[in-house]
Amino acid sequence: MIVVTGSTGNIGRPLLDALTAAGESVTAVSRNPISLPEGARHFAGNLNDPEGLEPAFRGADRLFLMIPDPALPVSRIVETARASGIRRIVLLSSQRAQSRQDPVLTSMEQTVTGSVPEWTVLRPGGFASNALLWAESVRSTRTVRAPFADVGLPPIDPADIAAAAAAALLEDAHVGRYYTLNGPAAVTPREQVAAIGHALGEPVELVEQTREESFAELSRIWPPAVVEKTLDALGTPTDEERKPSSDTELALGRAPRDFTDWVARNIDAFR
Ligand SMILES: NC(=O)c1ccc[n+]([C@@H]2O[C@H](COP(=O)([O-])OP(=O)(O)OC[C@H]3O[C@@H](n4cnc5c(N)ncnc54)[C@H](OP(=O)(O)O)[C@@H]3O)[C@@H](O)[C@H]2O)c1
Repeated sequence: MIVVTGSTGNIGRPLLDALTAAGESVTAVSRNPISLPEGARHFAGNLNDPEGLEPAFRGADRLFLMIPDPALPVSRIVETARASGIRRIVLLSSQRAQSRQDPVLTSMEQTVTGSVPEWTVLRPGGFASNALLWAESVRSTRTVRAPFADVGLPPIDPADIAAAAAAALLEDAHVGRYYTLNGPAAVTPREQVAAIGHALGEPVELVEQTREESFAELSRIWPPAVVEKTLDALGTPTDEERKPSSDTELALGRAPRDFTDWVARNIDAFR
């Protein structure tokens, strides 16, 4: 049995579908309820209460672990999973673990790789689904406010991260691997907004924000330290962060999907 954390999210939801389609029985962990594919059961759990997750882990041998808040008690979550019989963990980390040598991410990765015999670390760059932050303003005013309008990065489709996670949970070939995951080509925010407008069949205006304006806006939804790191990656990416990674195809067994593909599947959020 496989436990999926973050099961209501951008990665967790398609991962549930992929695992149940492969015939696996799956426990979907999240605080909120979710409509489930056949073969999955829901466990209402909070990652802030690791010991309370023990019934979700009981009888399972594999875990997809997402840590959506760096303040969560990673060591206790991993220890509860290991003590309950989990042998394989596929960890969602971030490209920043390598490209910025981020100590919080490094520590999280070491907690996992030092605890269970079988692990895979997924290190995605920015998600295509981050564009959903613009959905409300596109719906209401056909406008996007974003910083660094002409800095291009290769966004990864979260459905491709889910596909890589499914492969790592189901196949032995990915054990002990670190995979940097991103999309097939760099796309600037201006190009992303144009792609959304094209799919809508109506122009969408991009209003470029300063870093300070963006910091003030994003700090309303994310911790300030997370916002600073995000703006560093968006505004002054390293050479490594700008380039598509050859790991992505190794992890997926195919080429990753591009941003226009993600837009086509998610355009209803912007109508
Ligand atoms: N966005 C990016 O560009 C990017 C890049 C690299 C790495 N990442 C990593 O991706 C993850 C976030 O991705 P996302 O923003 O796309 O996530 P998301 O889809 O919004 O999903 C977050 C999931 O976490 C669950 N969750 C949140 N707090 C929880 C808690 N205390 N206990 C149990 N479940 C909890 C949520 O479910 P409930 O609310 O129902 O509990 C939801 O299923 C983070 O680990 C981040 O470091 C993101």
